[in-house]
Amino acid sequence: MKNNITVTKTEKSKVSELDFNNIPLGTTFTDHMFICDYENGQWINPRIEPLKPIATHPAAMALHYGQAIFEGMKATVDKEGNPMLFRANKNAARLNTSADRMGMPNFPEDLFVDGLKQLVAIEHSWIPPKDGSALYLRPFMYADEPFIGMRAATHYKFIIMASPAGPFFSKRIKLWAEKHYIRAAHGGTGEAKAAGNYAAAIRPTELAKAKGYDQVLWLDAVEHKYIQEVGTMNIFFKIDGAFVTPKRDGSILDGITRMSVIAVLRDKGYDVVERAITINEIKEAANKGLLEEAFGTGTAVGIAYIQEIGVNEETIHVSDESPVGLEVNNTLNAIKTGKVVDKFNWMTKIEKELV
Ligand SMILES: Cc1ncc(COP(=O)(O)O)c(C=O)c1O
Repeated sequence: MKNNITVTKTEKSKVSELDFNNIPLGTTFTDHMFICDYENGQWINPRIEPLKPIATHPAAMALHYGQAIFEGMKATVDKEGNPMLFRANKNAARLNTSADRMGMPNFPEDLFVDGLKQLVAIEHSWIPPKDGSALYLRPFMYADEPFIGMRAATHYKFIIMASPAGPFFSKRIKLWAEKHYIRAAHGGTGEAKAAGNYAAAIRPTELAKAKGYDQVLWLDAVEHKYIQEVGTMNIFFKIDGAFVTPKRDGSILDGITRMSVIAVLRDKGYDVVERAITINEIKEAANKGLLEEAFGTGTAVGIAYIQEIGVNEETIHVSDESPVGLEVNNTLNAIKTGKVVDKFNWMTKIEKELV
């Protein structure tokens, strides 16, 4: 590794306290974090140290002006227990796309990947081995300069934390096509993985859940008819044998699962078209019996099969089964656990560090 990362290990690992058969969602963190500071126009002092709270000045700019971005990815193990990362370079590049939009400094992509590799090597015993489980990795950057005033901060922190995640059992989900609230408009921050995008989605998501839906299906900001994406997933429809997914237009996240699913579908011989799709088109396809499958794609869940979509007072029934979605999910999981040849060259193997 070309980057010099200082490592300070914890005196006692907490891994023995984790019940690998019953991993709580999002509340357990591994022993260490990767951390790096931005000062005087440079990223300095990359280090791995025991995970602990960080003192924050009440005027830290991220708390007021929202310069905060993040990534989400997973480390898995192969049949021999060797840790692996899935398309980490894509997350490194996407973090910098988000940073550009939010007026934040880029983080060196090789240091992003080296930091991940070294953290995962140290925390390898935290990676749950069961099928569908993984070590969730959360790289993020925020402005920690204490300053009151509207400008780009000059001090930032970049941190990677890790949290074990148990197998995700995909139940078929119900989406609420949102016609009042919006997630992203052209020229806005939709393509950035910016914390504020998620804050603005919380209330509409709560309202959709109160109506009995699992997630919001976001529509465009102007006409409320073009489909964008779902909660924390991109979306695919199978209509009359071929797949369509909303094209990237600056308002949706450039999902790494999305780009991988497009590649796997094409490799299996399916047509996949990236284009504008209206909710009405989906309703008409369903009415004609041509809507065969729909699924969401994202790091957290892999593929989430969609059962129905609520639009105003109507319900679009999608399907009770998603055979192609299931097949693609199985292929992606097999690649991530080294059970099939990684012909796309997506996985990075990591040497385990003995602790
Ligand atoms: C808004 C949004 N869309 C799509 C995705 C799916 O992206 P990925 O496949 O890279 O996890 C996510 C998850 O990161 C997300 O938060």
